[in-house]
This record gives sequence, structure tokens and C-alpha cells, in this order.
Amino acid sequence: MRKFVLLFLSLAAAAAGAADDTVKLDTPTTTMTFRRDADGVWLMPYYGAKIEDAADAEALEGDPCRHDGRIGAVAGQAKPASYSVYGAKEFGIDANKSGGLCVKHDDGTMASELVGLGAEWIDDKTAAKHLVLPMKDSVHDFLVLQHFRVFDDTDAVETWTEFSNRETGAVELYRMDSAALTFPLLADEFHFMSLTGQWGCENQISESELPRGQAVVISSRNGVRDAWFANPAFMLSVGRRADECSGTVIGGVLAWSGAWSISAHRDYADLLELRLGADNANGAYRLEPGSSVTAPKAVLVRSDRGKGAVSRELHRWARNHRLPHGRELRDIVLNSWEGAYFDFDERRLVRMMDGLAEMGGEMFVVDDGWFGNGRYARDNDRNGLGDWRVNARKLPRGLGHLAGEAKSRGLKFGLWVEPEMVNVTSELYTRHPEWAMRCKGRPLGTGRGGTQCVLDFTNPDVVDNISSQLGAILDAAPGISYFKWDANANFFNVGSPTSGRDQNLYFDYTAGLYEVLKRLRAKRPDLIVQACSSGGGRMEYGFLGYADEFWPSDDTDARERVFIQWGAGMFYPANAIAAHVTVSPNHQTMRETPLKYRFDVAMSARLGLELDPRKMSAEDTGFAKRCIAVYKSIRPVVQQGELYRLVSPYGRTYAAQMHVSTDCRRAVVFVWGLNRGPCKDFIPPVRLDGLAPDLRYRVTEVNLPDGAGGHCGASGSAVSGQALMAAGLPVYIGKGDYDSAVFVLEAQ
Ligand code: DGJ
Repeated sequence: MRKFVLLFLSLAAAAAGAADDTVKLDTPTTTMTFRRDADGVWLMPYYGAKIEDAADAEALEGDPCRHDGRIGAVAGQAKPASYSVYGAKEFGIDANKSGGLCVKHDDGTMASELVGLGAEWIDDKTAAKHLVLPMKDSVHDFLVLQHFRVFDDTDAVETWTEFSNRETGAVELYRMDSAALTFPLLADEFHFMSLTGQWGCENQISESELPRGQAVVISSRNGVRDAWFANPAFMLSVGRRADECSGTVIGGVLAWSGAWSISAHRDYADLLELRLGADNANGAYRLEPGSSVTAPKAVLVRSDRGKGAVSRELHRWARNHRLPHGRELRDIVLNSWEGAYFDFDERRLVRMMDGLAEMGGEMFVVDDGWFGNGRYARDNDRNGLGDWRVNARKLPRGLGHLAGEAKSRGLKFGLWVEPEMVNVTSELYTRHPEWAMRCKGRPLGTGRGGTQCVLDFTNPDVVDNISSQLGAILDAAPGISYFKWDANANFFNVGSPTSGRDQNLYFDYTAGLYEVLKRLRAKRPDLIVQACSSGGGRMEYGFLGYADEFWPSDDTDARERVFIQWGAGMFYPANAIAAHVTVSPNHQTMRETPLKYRFDVAMSARLGLELDPRKMSAEDTGFAKRCIAVYKSIRPVVQQGELYRLVSPYGRTYAAQMHVSTDCRRAVVFVWGLNRGPCKDFIPPVRLDGLAPDLRYRVTEVNLPDGAGGHCGASGSAVSGQALMAAGLPVYIGKGDYDSAVFVLEAQ
């Protein structure tokens, strides 16, 4: 709080002298402008393609309160406020129900009017520019700081808002959005695209036109698996529905692991209001006097070059500015779950390690089942959550020994944890039943296994206990270099037995979660963390500020994964998408697919395996070994290159995408059949993208099983980038329903 007030006071003082009333904020190819109007309101008259000269931007701005066909605001309609607020003014920024901020002040009144002070640039070593627009309510001592951060290497703009209560009593925030922009946009059409799904079919793309006068709202509908039913991310086509390479698109993501809501509202005059923020619908946030709260970061990207460009900008932002180790190459993992489930002991795990080492894998991860003791042993999903000590019967020599076994085989070692959950059948619960979330006066509900509850992470004692248990695991086995962080419950039993702040529960829970993650990262900055949460539940950039990758789905069927990973790639980079080769028939769908197909799909993201290598045939082991060797050679391009989606799987019998190194000298092309319809063996040539037109690329097909014929007559030839992009690669994928092909392109 003190930090906030000092910052605010220094900004206010600076503003008094500087009167910085107009601001231009540039990214490499876009510009945002801000202007304080006669009422003192901060407007955002322009967010669009780059305008080099500030004077030009001002000259073209026009009157934001008149319909001039460009600014987009209409007399009597909302002003293009940089941050909309509920309350006071008729044309104010949003007199009626809308508004990113809605405060019940300490005197019980609901209206606010934010008057801007002079803009300020913050000295921020991690960004190219950091702008703050300070504002204060015209009546109450209530302060708002709106932040914008931009970078030299991406068009992504980070924006978030801080709120400070200097009133005498507590205030309640009914809304406290990170971004609440009344966009100066005019277009005949807007189309809203987002991801939706549920367990086993996450990240399905949904897109529809935004009707005039209506809003689209997506929300988490949850506080733990907050990215499961819907992902906090969207792409909005401004004008006609954008495709991969053309059309104006504004993309956005919210970096938050709690309940959230994102809305796009197109009004009668085609003015657009966009809001992203934590969702307080089930409890207005109570802010005590002298306290401040920071809304989560939102990130916006704008492009005139279609959805592909927006994805690539977000990927670059994520790798360079969000993921803890975004520029490092991820290891090839074998995760024990589908290979062993709960049924393992040290001997079995070590033999699985042998198999992984033989194939050339790099990291062995023990999934669920390694902890809990006695009657609380984790031999099934009914016991032991909360007791993070090794099971002495299964692993008598401990985790340190197991990590040593991995090391002696040249492997790194990782472990599954589910720190936010507790089984009522655990030592932890027996000692501290008050540490589980529960609703006062109601019977305790239980989830998975009939015994699982969510721990009350709003309680500092719980945060301390879980942090120290995680720390103790790492101390006992310093060889651990990876945690798979699971969370297999929704928010239920909604109530904290100790905090007395149930209306703040969703927000405080997430703050507690981040505190545990912060301590973990401080203890082991090198630790790689996977955000799992039943698959897809934590595929969001809040958690990904502490984790490097996510498990997109428990559905490991390669054909389903084409869709699930396609959706994930819209907003998240390939190095963050964990994709594991599993057995056939698949355990979730029973579908049978060739091993080649399973590798070809998994190799387009962070490759891993999830099976028992001892059960593979010698032929399959040999093939896997070859694919893993290929993956190591293409890994820098797949994980760190630029993604070009070439043919969407939606409505087609095949799909294709490619990854291009940032210097354009190497590329990898993936083509996947989805199942063969009549006459579908001969697909149109796959037109490539992102290559240097003048370079000649040698095309080589990889991942071919012994004796199998190739899928492209051009394999082995050197062809110009220009021809590959103009005419395309002629590919035949007719060898069964799930045929596929992978090509490596090397500049000569
Ligand atoms: C759900 C995860 O998504 C799976 O990968 C596995 O870790 C299980 N939980 C273990 O209980």
C-alpha cells in the first residue's frame, strides 16, 4: 500500500508541473494514443497501425465526442475512455450499467468519476516503456493507476490497474477490471473467437459474429480449473472475419489463475467496449482503508495481418517476457501416469527409466501415487493428498535415491504434486480439518475419490505448511528438476473457515496460490513446472508466470490432440504445450493410430512419452529412438520458431502447420490426416508460409518407418522459398486413416 501511495503522490507531483496531457505509446508496428480531455478524463482515441509522428496522430484525432467516422464515438454515447467507470456522468464514460470499475464507497454511494492526473513514464528495466495514467475519484479519496508496458521485440501491450482505498472506511469493488477500454473502433462486423471445452476435449475453437447491440461474455465459471471450460483469451476480428494471414485482429489474454471474465460489447453505433478482469460476480472485493489491490495483467496485441500474426506476437511475448525459462529448450519427458498409473514400485520405475534412456529421452517424471503412508498410502485416488512424504513401501530408498537412479542413466528427474488439494483421508486433514475450504453450517462436500477437498489457500498457515512441505521434498531430493503441478477439483465448499473474508475468496485464494509458487521459484529458480490441473485447467498466463509449460488435456489420442494443440497454439507457444506419445488403442478414446502418427503429432509441441517402455516391441522402440533423435535436431525450430498454421483441421480431413526458425533458414512442416473420406488421399499441395523467398530449401521427409514409402515426390530436392509458398508442397497422405508426414527444410 505504502508503495502505491508513494508512487501515486510522486506521479501527482510530477503531473502538476509536467501536465503531460497527450501520450503516444508505440510497439514495433502499432500505436496507442492517450489524451486527457477538458473534463480531465483519460481517453484512448487511437489503437491501430503505427503512426510515426505524434503530431500526425494528434492532427488526425478529431473530436472524440462527435461521430466523425474515424474516432467512432457518437454524441450521447460513451467516450473512448482509457478506463471506463460506473457512475457519475451522463456521457461519462459509462453512466449506466457498464464500466470496468464499480465501487461502493465508504459512505454507501455507488458512483465514481475518475479524474486523470498527468501521465508518467516509469523507469522499468524489463520493458521498453512503462506508462502510468493516474486517476482519482472527484469526490472520494479513491485512487486508480492504469499501467501500460510495451517492448521492443513484440507488439504485445501489457496493461493492468491498481486501486487504492484512502477513504475512512472499507470500500467494496463490484468490478475491478484489468482493462476496460471503450475502443474507438468502427467496423461493419466484429467476430469473436475463443476456446472452450471440458475434460478430455479442451481448447475447441468457437467463433461467431458479435451482433450489434450485444455483448459476448466468456468467463472461467471456476476458480481452480479456471481455464478449463473457457480460456482467458480471445481474438476479435475488426471488420470481416480474419483468416490466418489477413484481416485486422485484436487478440487478448488475461494472466490470472482465479475466476475471470472477458467481454466484448458492440453498441448500436458500432463502438466497441472490451473488458478483461478478475470476476467478482460472486462477491464484491472488500478493500480495507489504507489498502490497495492490483488487478491481474491483461495483454493486448493488434495486427492487420490476421490471426497467425497475433499468435506469433503472443508467443514471442510469452517466451521473452512471461515464461520463467521461455528461451530454453524443453527436455523430452517420460511421465509415468498412463504407463503405470498407481501401480508401481522402485523396481518398475527404474526399469521404465532404462527404457527411456535407451530411446534417448531426457527427463523421467513420477506421476501420482508416490506419497502417503500406512492407511493413507496413495495407492488410489482416495487417499493421501496433503501428505507430501514418500511412500516407504513403494519407494523404500526415497526420492533422492530414485533421482540418483535417473541421474546414473543420464536422465533428469521430476515429480507430480497436487498441492492445493487434501483428502479427508490424510494425516494433514486429520490434524487440520479447518484447513479445507468449507461452508459454515453445511456438510463438507467431497470431490474426486469421494474424499478430495480444496485447501484454503487464503489461510497463511496453509500457505506456510504447503510451501514447507514442497521445500522439504526438494531438500530430500535435490536432484528433482521438474514438478508437474496438478489440481483436480473445481472450487466448491466455497468458504474459508478462518479468514472471515468470504466475499474476497476467489481473489485471496489466487494470491495464496501465487505466494506458494513464488516461494517455490525463489527456492529453486531453475525448477521447471508444468501447469496440469486435469489437463487444460491452468492453461493461462497467470500460472505461466511461474510455470514453463502446461498439460493441455488428459485426452492423449493423437487425432484429438491435433485439435486440442491447434487451439492451444492460438495463444500459447509450442515450447509450453506438453504433448505425449501414448499407447494404441488410446486409453481415453480407444482409437487405434500408428506409432508414427502419434510421434508426428506430439513432435509439433514439447515432445514426451507416457507409456511403459518395457511393453513396447523392439521395432517400436527402434522407431521411437529414431523419432526422438529427429526431434532433438528440430527442437530449436519447433519450440522456439515462428508458428504458421497452414490448413485448419476444422471441417477437413487433414491439417498442416509449420514452424520456421527466426532466421528463416530452417523449417519443419507437419501434415496430419484426420480420417480418410472418399477420394481424400490426394490433398491439395500444402502452400508453405514464413520462408525467405530467395533462399533454396532442401526438403527432407523424416520419421519414416523402415521400408515405408515417402509422402512427397519433392523430398530430397532443393526448392526456392518462393515456389514453396506459391505452389506448395505436393503431399500424399492416403496410407490409412491416420497417415501423416513431417518434412524438414534446410536453406542451402
Ligand atoms: C490428472 C492429470 O491430468 C493426469 O495427467 C494425472 O496426473 C492424474 N491427474 C493423476 O491423478
